[in-house]
Parts: sequence; structure tokens; C-alpha cells
Amino acid sequence: MVPRMPILEHQFLAQQRSWRLLSQLRAREPDLSVLARLPDTIDFADLAALESLLIDLGLNDEGSDEFPASLQPALGRGLLVWQYPNQFAPYLSALAELGVHSYLELGVRHGGSFIATVEILRRAAPIARAIAVDVLPCPALDRYTPEGVTFWQVSTLTPRFHEQLHALGAIDLAMIDTHHEAEQCWAEFQRVAPIARMVALHDIANIGCPGVGEIWRRIRQLPGYRCLEFTAQYDRGPFMGIGLAIRSGA
Ligand SMILES: C[S@@+](CC[C@H](N)C(=O)[O-])C[C@H]1O[C@@H](n2cnc3c(N)ncnc32)[C@H](O)[C@@H]1O
Repeated sequence: MVPRMPILEHQFLAQQRSWRLLSQLRAREPDLSVLARLPDTIDFADLAALESLLIDLGLNDEGSDEFPASLQPALGRGLLVWQYPNQFAPYLSALAELGVHSYLELGVRHGGSFIATVEILRRAAPIARAIAVDVLPCPALDRYTPEGVTFWQVSTLTPRFHEQLHALGAIDLAMIDTHHEAEQCWAEFQRVAPIARMVALHDIANIGCPGVGEIWRRIRQLPGYRCLEFTAQYDRGPFMGIGLAIRSGA
């Protein structure tokens, strides 16, 4: 049983302020034509090749200071993937091994990491269902509509999201990458943990997101999970970092 943490009124007001700010941050349209560069098969053991492929798909340029000089030419192009390739490649490789047939991403921004995850993991095993969730519109997900892929424009903190999750049933993997504050991160973990065989958190090592690190340390203490971390850095930070909690026996 995952313990509950109430969202206090001042925290709720702080969230309202940040959502007002977020609503000014319209998602951009990634260039989906780069998907044609993906080979039919991927060698998930070759991490260097997978990392190069991710760079070639194009990275997000918001927070460009977090990326090293060597990656600057890849920023603002292609899918706008908002990940460190040296973390995302071993994460996707581990997931390919663990088997993912259904995926839920909370907080998708431009949709780049969601689309990359689906397109790369479907080279390891068929993805029957993939659900992207964001409180803001995501134009890319109006255009990226393979069978089984859905976009829910909803806040993860609403009863409507809870109902949609309930109707969804069991899934293999949920990635949490929304507001990066402890209370919201924990509330989202509580919502997805009962249905997800694996839960990933983004920004567990990010110096700018101490709340996510705090929740990740709490998850690591929970009984019933085996936890993996993908926190390789370049020449700055620490930034980003992916934690993957795998339910025991899964
Ligand atoms: C860091 S971005 C996500 C990046 C994306 N996962 C990627 O790798 O490209 C955070 C996103 O979370 C969304 N978000 C924040 N709070 C949310 C909430 N309560 N419900 C749904 N989405 C939320 C924001 O609108 C924003 O698009």
C-alpha cells in the first residue's frame, strides 16, 4: 500500500500559478519525417549506436544550457526529444529486455520523447496501447496516430484522469515527467503505481528538481520494487536522470 500525502492549499495555489505560466508555453510541432531514419530492427545491446540514433532523431532546445557543446547541433531539430541520449539509450535498452506492450507518459510537452519511446520499443515488441497525457495541447499527437496511440489532454490531478486510468486497466510502463515538484510527483506515482508493472521518473538526478529526487528516494525504500537508475552525465549538471522502478516478480 502506497502511503498518501495530501496536497496543501498553498501548494495547490503554487500549481495554479505554474499552470498559468505553462499555458503560455505552447508545444511546438516536431518534424515527424525523421522517423523514416529509424531502421526496421535495432540492436538494443549496442548502446553507442542507439545513442547516435537518438541524437539523429533531434533534441529539444528548451534548457539548451543543460546540453554539452557536442550536442548543440542536434538541438531544436527533428523530434525535439527532451532527454540526455546517454541516459535514454540504456533506459530504452533495459525496457526492450523487460518487455513493454503498453505505455503511458505523463507530461509529453512536444511529444518527442513519447513518440521516440513508442517507435523504438515497438522494434523490440509490439506496442498495443500507448497513451500520452498533458494538460496542454500537443499538436504532434494530432498527426502521430498509429493504431493504439491516444492523447489525453487532461490534468493528472483531476478526477477525470483518475477515471480514465481506471478504465485503462493494467499497463507495463508509466513514465512521470510533469511538474517536477515532490507533491505532484508523489500524487502521480500513487495514481499509476496500482496499474503499472514499471514506473519511470524523469529528472531524478536533476540539480534543479530536488522534489523528484526526494520522491525517487522514497520509491527506492518501498518494498516490492527493484530500482534501476540511468543518470550518466556529460560535462555539467547533474541534469535529468531516469529512475525505473520495476515491481518485484515482474
Ligand atoms: C518537462 S515537460 C515533459 C517533457 C516530455 N516528457 C519529454 O521528454 O519531451 C512537462 C510537461 O508536463 C505537463 N504537465 C505539468 N503538469 C501537468 C499535469 N498536472 N497534468 C498533465 N500534464 C502536466 C506540462 O504541460 C509539460 O508539457
